[in-house]
Amino acid sequence: MAYDVSLLLQQGRIFQHGQLSEPMDIAIAGDTIRAIAPHLDLTAATTLPLAGQLVIPPFVESHIHLDSVLTAGQPRWNQSGTLFEGIEIWRERKQSLTVEDIQERAIAALKIQASQGVLFVRTHADVSDPTLTPLHGLLSVREAVKDWITVQVVAFPQDGIYSHPGTVERLEEAMKLGADVVGGIPHYELTREDGVRSVKYIFDLAETYDRLIDIHCDEIDDDQSRFLEVIAAEAIRRDMGDRVTASHTTAFGSYNNAYAFKLMGFLRRARINFVSNPLINLTLQGRMDTYPKRRGLTRVKELWQNGLNVSLGHDCIQDPWYCLGTGNLLDVALMAVHACQMTGHDELQACVQMVTENGARTLNLHHAYGIAEGQPANLVVLDAEDAIAALQHRATARHVISQGQPLVSTTPPQVTWQQVV
Ligand code: FE2
Repeated sequence: MAYDVSLLLQQGRIFQHGQLSEPMDIAIAGDTIRAIAPHLDLTAATTLPLAGQLVIPPFVESHIHLDSVLTAGQPRWNQSGTLFEGIEIWRERKQSLTVEDIQERAIAALKIQASQGVLFVRTHADVSDPTLTPLHGLLSVREAVKDWITVQVVAFPQDGIYSHPGTVERLEEAMKLGADVVGGIPHYELTREDGVRSVKYIFDLAETYDRLIDIHCDEIDDDQSRFLEVIAAEAIRRDMGDRVTASHTTAFGSYNNAYAFKLMGFLRRARINFVSNPLINLTLQGRMDTYPKRRGLTRVKELWQNGLNVSLGHDCIQDPWYCLGTGNLLDVALMAVHACQMTGHDELQACVQMVTENGARTLNLHHAYGIAEGQPANLVVLDAEDAIAALQHRATARHVISQGQPLVSTTPPQVTWQQVV
């Protein structure tokens, strides 16, 4: 053996690629997984006996706005719970936004997430602010936390690219400053034509600077909001599908079936990624409906059935738009199970994959992710025997291993009966 084993996980059952393994020993040396086998006769500096507990690759938060996290109630609570009151409140809260304020809250949120097994995060940074404060804040956070959690930053023009002067220039400046991903919001541009133009510009910018794309797309109940087809067309023509993500796409839930069926064929060709945010879109969408009231989500189950990559995110954690959110991606998966009616056995497992492996595909992590010999040693031990039990009990992340090192461990709550019943 040409290496010293620093960490040995004994008898954990690995859930990956939709399969649950027999109990395995996992040997880690430095920051790399060196061996996986039913029994490894090795000594290690640290040994964790797992007794059949579940080992999964880390949870991936594929969509969050870390610049606004943990601001619920500041300066006042959202009384109506609506998007529009949230925008009003954020306009007031933004007045006191500083780089330090963003760093403090973003790192606090990342710690909450990491303690629950999240080790990869894609955050949006609003670049409508002329000072680029959210972008500067989140780029510095990406650097500050890189030894224990990987953060991607999307340059996100919240108010539209063409609706305010200076945003085009700021988006390009964001690329020069090192944003990982180009964002957009075509349904919020002043006209449909501007929306189409904005999508082409986003693709041009991504090609010029060799960056990924993640567009807030059709996050509205309007069944005529159809920028997803524009994104799909650009992805097909430029052969960029796996580098492109359409986030939210809630209008897809309102399209008529004839159009949705035709569009699904184009999406299969385009091979783009999708992110759904069921916690917040269930609460924000459908607000103008009486009854029947729409769920306001994209067609998660149908996209999955068509072999497209769908991941799930929080979008918001305790901010003016959504004052809840625990940072636990099993909560998000559970909401998708309900809202998208994915209660079949394989569908339940798929929802767990949507917050792990599918998220990794959305983030283009490729070989940086997954449990295999030679891979970076990032993994999570859950207090559950399989993926469905993890959902049933919102299993505690017993051990979170980041870059080969135990990062955080949690003891599940113990129940003690005081009477014999
Ligand atoms: Fe978002």
